[in-house]
Amino acid sequence: MKAVRKAIIPAAGLGTRMLPISATVCKEMLPIVDLPAMYYLVKEAVDSGITDILIITGRGKGIMEDFFDHSPEYEAALAQKGKSEELKTLREIASMANISFLRQRETKGLGHAVGRARSFVGDEPFVVLYGDDIIFSKTPVCRQLIDAYEKYGKAVVGVKGVPMEWVRKYSSLKVDSIEGESSLYTCTDMIEKPKAGEEFSNLSILGRVLLTPEIFDIIDSLEPGAGGEYQLTDAMKRVAREDGILALEFEGERYDLGSKIGFLKANIVKGLSHPETKDELREYIKSLAEEL
Ligand code: UTP
Repeated sequence: MKAVRKAIIPAAGLGTRMLPISATVCKEMLPIVDLPAMYYLVKEAVDSGITDILIITGRGKGIMEDFFDHSPEYEAALAQKGKSEELKTLREIASMANISFLRQRETKGLGHAVGRARSFVGDEPFVVLYGDDIIFSKTPVCRQLIDAYEKYGKAVVGVKGVPMEWVRKYSSLKVDSIEGESSLYTCTDMIEKPKAGEEFSNLSILGRVLLTPEIFDIIDSLEPGAGGEYQLTDAMKRVAREDGILALEFEGERYDLGSKIGFLKANIVKGLSHPETKDELREYIKSLAEEL
């Protein structure tokens, strides 16, 4: 079995739920306190053992490339002022992983975005981190998926049980339990954005999947699905029906950075643990709560 070394982060979407800001600032670079959302995705991949990352971008998203590059002006200024901690942080960001960028050119859906990565992936298994899903967990979620893959040798999707109204916005999975496993299932079918009555369960794919390169031929043969887009779920559905795919109910709190409320919640949670903001923010939230 080949080791999982590569990750794709599709981040080319238009981010219409975050308009008007997303028209000029890409949502993946919106800050969670003082680091952009994309930093947390790259960090999760690196902490899971991933060495090579391809970020799928689009027009107006070049700022992501700048963030992961060296910044000689800042580095020189920080060195001159003796700010060694800040300097170390900037240098670490620029050398986190081998990060490359590829433009999707047309935003035809998540399946189409992943399909652009065929030559980057080659014949290796890989993880996909959806560019607007941030997950804070004890063990990085990519690592949780890789552990399941290494145990059973099959593609894995990260899932959570969610309220039924969310299922209709995301996806729904048909699963069977696996003997001796409490959070891992065999998934035999799935549906993207099911209409009422079409749901298999309240288990939805949330932001992380581990796939094998066979997926690319399937992606190439996809017809447009829900919303007229080429849906990754439709490709994974075929794998599920033919070979079975694993569904892992992962440990971790997921925040949808593509939504205003998810963005606010992630900032509050991180602000409550950031050394520079935690005390004042806690007091502020308490005083606000008295008026609510
Ligand atoms: P979403 O559907 O959540 O993102 O796609 P979106 O299309 O940007 O959001 P809205 O609905 O307009 O607000 C999940 C992930 O897939 C990426 C997005 O950037 C997001 O990270 N994506 C989506 C692409 O890279 N390309 C696409 O064509 C569509």
